[in-house]
Amino acid sequence: MQVLPILLTAAATVCSSAWASSGAQFRVFDNTAYVNTTIGYGTTNINWIPNYVCHPLVQGGVLPAAEAWKSAVREWNIYPGYPLVLDCEDLYFKNASTADLNLHILSALQTWADEVVSPGQIIGWYGLSGNTLPTLYDHYRSLIANHSAHAFFPSAYTFTSNLSSWNSSLNSVVQTIKTIDDSLPIWPYTWPQYHNNYTFLPVDLWKSELQLLQARRDIDGFVIWGGKNHAVCNDTCQATAGQQPWLNATRTYLATLYGLYTGQAERSGAQVFS
Ligand SMILES: *[C@@H]1O[C@H](CO)[C@@H](O)[C@H](O)[C@H]1NC(C)=O
Ligand SMILES: *[C@@H]1O[C@H](CO)[C@@H](O)[C@H](O)[C@H]1NC(C)=O
Ligand SMILES: *[C@@H]1O[C@H](CO)[C@@H](O)[C@H](O)[C@H]1NC(C)=O
Ligand SMILES: *[C@@H]1O[C@H](CO)[C@@H](O)[C@H](O)[C@H]1NC(C)=O
Ligand SMILES: *[C@@H]1O[C@H](CO)[C@@H](O)[C@H](O)[C@H]1NC(C)=O
Ligand SMILES: *[C@@H]1O[C@H](CO)[C@@H](O)[C@H](O)[C@H]1NC(C)=O
Ligand SMILES: *[C@@H]1O[C@H](CO)[C@@H](O)[C@H](O)[C@H]1NC(C)=O
Ligand SMILES: *[C@@H]1O[C@H](CO)[C@@H](O)[C@H](O)[C@H]1NC(C)=O
Repeated sequence: MQVLPILLTAAATVCSSAWASSGAQFRVFDNTAYVNTTIGYGTTNINWIPNYVCHPLVQGGVLPAAEAWKSAVREWNIYPGYPLVLDCEDLYFKNASTADLNLHILSALQTWADEVVSPGQIIGWYGLSGNTLPTLYDHYRSLIANHSAHAFFPSAYTFTSNLSSWNSSLNSVVQTIKTIDDSLPIWPYTWPQYHNNYTFLPVDLWKSELQLLQARRDIDGFVIWGGKNHAVCNDTCQATAGQQPWLNATRTYLATLYGLYTGQAERSGAQVFS
């Protein structure tokens, strides 16, 4: 896969196989936007268009004007060359009667995005894999064929304090993905807040999730999300998120994962700026 000069100069350790699947690299992406809480510690940049931006453009199964969509992509693609995740929850493959229309819209959106991002940039859909009926896997395959620089971004959000139930959900969506296509990177979305009430997870639960993610050989890393949506993290939450214990726990985990102080990495894939 082609990697851009900007990426090569920005990240000294990123080589041309940077985004290849097969477990060579274990990337942890920082997709958080809490106040003053850039995670750092070897995390990689990522771009994301939230559902609250996509939803008004596609609501009711409408194809938006190309320029309206491209303008949203330009606004949100703040790290050129790094993966772009599109969150359009109106366009899932959950219903045979809308699947053809949704495939048409999703294909157009990713094609228009490709026209304004860096050549060869990975584009993938948040949550779509976990919201595709088995009878519609071919629709997902067609979507991939339409833009082959692709990756999967399933949700690995937390609904309860039950770690095995979180783990089972992740096992299930990874299995779905392998059935759809077993050659592309899988980067699940994690979030240090509960999906049901938006409080921060107990730090031990968060640490356990990080360990289970690292132990897997069937994913290529994961994304940490948070703070991009005021509906789930208001100003008070945004401003205090960095004082919650998840941040220190995450940095401690990353330091060990990537051997940041010892030079003894457990997995490679740290982003290191020169
Ligand atoms: C599928 O979509 C059709 C048409 O919009 C709707 O009538 C039907 O209720 C939907 N089925 C499900 C299971 O959501
Ligand atoms: C992807 O789909 C869009 C929308 O239908 C189409 O314009 C484009 O040519 C397709 N690209 C490929 C590579 O199939
Ligand atoms: C939020 O939800 C979690 C998981 O169900 C629960 O353990 C926790 O007590 C809830 N917190 C509040 C403040 O409701
Ligand atoms: C999580 O799932 C994996 C299979 O991928 C299994 O080996 C492991 O025992 C499970 N762990 C927990 C805590 O449920
Ligand atoms: C936790 O989830 C697992 C897997 O879904 C289930 O078997 C178990 O009963 C749950 N434990 C509790 C305490 O609810
Ligand atoms: C912000 O959200 C928290 C819960 O996450 C709530 O307790 C608080 O009242 C909210 N503050 C404002 C100003 O809405
Ligand atoms: C964030 O950092 C800026 C610059 O250091 C500081 O002025 C601001 O008070 C900080 N905000 C919070 C909520 O910590
Ligand atoms: C951060 O976590 C490490 C490892 O658990 C611990 O030793 C350290 O005291 C923590 N620091 C803070 C400021 O909580």
